[in-house]
Amino acid sequence: MALMDVLLDEMRDLYSAENQLVKALPKLAKGAKDASVKSLISNHLEETKGQVLRLRQAFEILGKKPTGQHCNGMEGLIEEGQDALEKDEDGANFDLGICGASARVEHYEIAGYTTSIALAKSLGLGDVANLLQANLNEEVAAAKAIFAGAKPLLKAALRQGDPTENEEEKKPKSGKEKYSEKKSKEDEKKAAPSVARKR
Ligand SMILES: [Fe+2]
Repeated sequence: MALMDVLLDEMRDLYSAENQLVKALPKLAKGAKDASVKSLISNHLEETKGQVLRLRQAFEILGKKPTGQHCNGMEGLIEEGQDALEKDEDGANFDLGICGASARVEHYEIAGYTTSIALAKSLGLGDVANLLQANLNEEVAAAKAIFAGAKPLLKAALRQGDPTENEEEKKPKSGKEKYSEKKSKEDEKKAAPSVARKR
């Protein structure tokens, strides 16, 4: 596989990721209870639509089609965002879950753009690298805004009820949560022999 193919794979992955987000972010914005988290997500939705267009422009420069690869990573991250929306948490705690899911999304994209920019630059594709950089700048700013937005939520969370109380044992688990718990135990079991050797 030529280096150009590696770049195209990375860019198609990002293109699919951004398109999936165009569909998913309105649900996240609608589900958020905090007004600033809501507007942060809505603003980033508008940016995301522009990012799709920039990626199309980059593919046009390369004379290639933008589709061809579904981003499984983003599909998983969006599912985790959906899980955050389904959590039975109150006020700031609920929105902090959404902030966590959003931060994961942004950092996943930052990794993809950083890689693609390096590949484009190596291939001497300055115009493509510039378009990718414009998207990366927005992702970095969005990630920073999420952490800034989470600060007042953390303060509010400390004020609501007893913040150190751990309620997970008291709540009945949904089928999805039970499945997730079972899988996490399998993850631990599979890794255990290697982790034990490390001691
Ligand atoms: Fe994005």
